[in-house]
Amino acid sequence: MHILPTISTSFIVISAIFVAFGWYYIAKGNRETHQKLMLWGAAFALAFFLIYASRTVFVGNTSFGGPEHLKLPYHLFLFFHITLATIGGVFGIVTLLHAFNKRFAKHKKIGRWTAVIWLLTAPTGVAVYILLYVMYPGGDTKPMIDAILGL
Ligand code: HEM
Repeated sequence: MHILPTISTSFIVISAIFVAFGWYYIAKGNRETHQKLMLWGAAFALAFFLIYASRTVFVGNTSFGGPEHLKLPYHLFLFFHITLATIGGVFGIVTLLHAFNKRFAKHKKIGRWTAVIWLLTAPTGVAVYILLYVMYPGGDTKPMIDAILGL
């Protein structure tokens, strides 16, 4: 089932590309294009999250299949990526709420952080994907629902 992680990782990358262009357009003063691109970026980020969350529950998370000495560095890196993604998601919601409520000074301030965090989340996500599925064969995959139900 590598197809779902491939799709969800592509969605983070597409989302980050929209955010980068969205930032470029607001820097040039084009609010309308900024809004459109950022909403597309948010939609792809949401699609990524929905695929990732449903895969975690119904298919499972894949354990690292690489050499023993890389397990700790891999998990530290994975933790860094998950932390960035979570902060990026929460900041993204706050950024959008400020925009929709026309609190543009606050939007601008937190929006910069959101964009930077999201632009770091995407490449770290791609690196996790490469370590988990490309460089080494993926390990066991166990659905969270099995763990919860004790199956
Ligand atoms: C999560 C999505 C979004 C992110 C990450 C984001 C990010 C940003 C950033 C970084 C800036 C400041 C650019 C700079 O001066 O360096 C900005 C400004 C702005 N954004 Fe967004 N934005 C998002 C969504 C939106 C949406 C949906 C709207 C429209 C409803 C919007 C409207 C604006 C406006 C009007 C400004 C200019 C504010 C000003 O110069 O006072 N943004 N945004």
